[in-house]
Amino acid sequence: MTDKHIVVVGAGLMGTGITHAFLASGHHVTLVDTNGNALDQARQSITKIFSDGVRLGKTTEADVADAMARMTGAEHLRGASGDTALVMETVTENLSIKQAIVREAEACFKAGTVIATNTSALSITEIASVAKTPTHVIGMHFFNPVHKMKLVEIVRGLETSDETVARARAWASAIGKTSIEVNEAPGFTTSRISALLGNEAMYMLSEGVASAEDIDTSLRMAFNHPMGPLELGDLTGWDTRLAVLQYLHQTLGEKFRPCPLIIKLVKAGRHGRKTGRGIYEYDDKGAKIPNSGVRPF
Ligand SMILES: NC(=O)c1ccc[n+]([C@@H]2O[C@H](COP(=O)([O-])OP(=O)(O)OC[C@H]3O[C@@H](n4cnc5c(N)ncnc54)[C@H](O)[C@@H]3O)[C@@H](O)[C@H]2O)c1
Repeated sequence: MTDKHIVVVGAGLMGTGITHAFLASGHHVTLVDTNGNALDQARQSITKIFSDGVRLGKTTEADVADAMARMTGAEHLRGASGDTALVMETVTENLSIKQAIVREAEACFKAGTVIATNTSALSITEIASVAKTPTHVIGMHFFNPVHKMKLVEIVRGLETSDETVARARAWASAIGKTSIEVNEAPGFTTSRISALLGNEAMYMLSEGVASAEDIDTSLRMAFNHPMGPLELGDLTGWDTRLAVLQYLHQTLGEKFRPCPLIIKLVKAGRHGRKTGRGIYEYDDKGAKIPNSGVRPF
């Protein structure tokens, strides 16, 4: 078994970033997505992150060519089967989809393969409950954009073994990330706080307390946050943010009730940067259009 071959399942925002991180640190990655367009888009985005690195003098054309040659794509996990040590699941935030991946991964790969989930909030114990060996299932929670954010939250489910925790921490370290260990709790440490902050900003916007631009500016300037909470929601995706809030509302109570404006944005298909419109609008190159913040009234 090689710790150098990783299978990443889900070629969306996070799967793209996680694949880049493993390629950049010398791993072989098979990226799996049932949507062939997502695979093409991911390959383009990974190439762009590497090209920006070349422009900034952080890497060389030769290293990038070597990294991209270590990446393959597949539309099904069976197409990715082989000698792998880690299946890194980062599909849509939905319990039954994630459990289906666990079942399929156990069927495709050798006993002993670690199955890690990048869920933002769901229960690792529940995701692992469908596994034959739940000792090998763990949370590895990355942050967006993965190439800039240094943390990986390592989340232990009820049955996760110490060996699996140690292996997950070793992978995080091998790709240059700092890891912290969290006992399972809805939203772990990070999503619980971030969801609350983003939801409150949406309530403030709905109540007409200030414009979207001014709410974001206030958190950037007063508290030195690198992004405002509405800009961050656009980056995360309001569909993902809503799924997380609904789960936290269900498990932790009323303070996490999703703001109706988030539900409205998702119904309108304004999921954020990935659909070109969220709270703000974005041009073809992904740049934010000035003064485009939603006016809810
Ligand atoms: N967006 C963020 O900022 C962020 C941060 C940390 C963690 N997460 C978590 O990461 C996970 C993915 O989020 P994302 O923002 O990348 O979502 P996304 O919507 O950008 O991508 C999800 C991808 O999963 C694919 N997919 C769905 N079902 C599949 C299946 N059965 N097999 C293979 N591929 C499948 C979809 O085609 C899509 O390409 C979620 O659990 C989310 O909560 C997201």
